[in-house]
Amino acid sequence: MSQEKFSKSDALMGGEPSAEPLQDDSLLRSAVTNRVHVAEDDCIEMRRLHRFFGETRAVDDVSFSVKRGHVFGYIGPNGAGKTTSMRILATLDLPSYGDALVDGFSVVNDPEYVRRRLGFMPDAFGTYRDVNCQEYLDFFARAYGLVGRERNARLKWVLHFTGTKGMAEKPIRGLSKGMKQRLCLGRALIHDPTVMILDEPAAGLDPRARIDLRRMIRELADRGKTVLISSHILTELAEMCDTVGIIEQGRLLATGSVEEIQHEQATHRELTIRILNDTNQAAQELQARPGVQQLIVDGQLIRFEFEGEVEDQAAIVAWLVSRGFDVAEVSSHKKSLEDVFLHVTEGLVQ
Ligand SMILES: Nc1ncnc2c1ncn2[C@@H]1O[C@H](COP(=O)(O)OP(=O)(O)OP(=O)(O)O)[C@@H](O)[C@H]1O
Ligand SMILES: [Mg+2]
Repeated sequence: MSQEKFSKSDALMGGEPSAEPLQDDSLLRSAVTNRVHVAEDDCIEMRRLHRFFGETRAVDDVSFSVKRGHVFGYIGPNGAGKTTSMRILATLDLPSYGDALVDGFSVVNDPEYVRRRLGFMPDAFGTYRDVNCQEYLDFFARAYGLVGRERNARLKWVLHFTGTKGMAEKPIRGLSKGMKQRLCLGRALIHDPTVMILDEPAAGLDPRARIDLRRMIRELADRGKTVLISSHILTELAEMCDTVGIIEQGRLLATGSVEEIQHEQATHRELTIRILNDTNQAAQELQARPGVQQLIVDGQLIRFEFEGEVEDQAAIVAWLVSRGFDVAEVSSHKKSLEDVFLHVTEGLVQ
């Protein structure tokens, strides 16, 4: 395969700045003096990351960390700043302020060391049309300095793991979207990185391919890899993530386990109460109660958004009964993850 088919600058990260093939890890290790102190099991750490483009605050003071072997879901609407922060983490761009650390190494001060341990799957595949899948992976294996048996073994493993073995000889131009995504994941895995940065890997995949992707990502985490994965869709990531972060307009609005975020927002419920006598009077009195919002009356039914714990909900019902209203039915709808996402973000697109 001729290497001219690839843009040299694209070689390692699927984008700008180029990196020379990396040497032996121990050489790099001795050259690095700036290892930053981080909590032992923090594998990715964003430290007050900022990135401005003119007036646009694409990433605005984002801090979070991801533990070794964990999957972190980075969720936000279009223009939230996901790609920008991932590109900085992948050493393709630099922060305006702040820093990001991979395994204790700074993307600003030690980008080569970061690249060595990081696999990046960008949101767009690039334009490698005339090579076949095996050649494509082989090129990246060489770019990462893998040689001989190690390279062959790695190629074999990646083709097997990503389910691309059967299409090794296929030219890239003939691949479907799902196949391309698999190959792209394979490329990001070829040098056995510690950290995987996956920018919307599930976009455009059919449900079956999504399930396969989820399984692969979980398996990578079980093998000790730390994964940062982005999506617009919280439910898509919920099952495979240990932690999620919700970003909008460059700001991180919430982080925690899916349950924590859901619980935080679960104080926000939709309640429906059927009152058999004097529904309008009950509605009026309810409206004055703290935590009751957007109340509507529909025949005997009163619907409203309610902020409070489940005990507060019970207190509302007891209070209605004590006021002499005949409460016949109460139903509470806990917000779905999608509702939580819409509630946390305001749907603002930069
Ligand atoms: N090179 C650039 N020059 C100017 N503005 C940019 C540049 N890159 C990103 N931005 C702006 O930064 C903001 C964040 O963009 P980013 O691509 O990070 O969002 P995103 O969360 O990945 O969105 P999407 O879900 O659409 O991929 C947007 O307002 C975008 O227009
Ligand atoms: Mg993006």
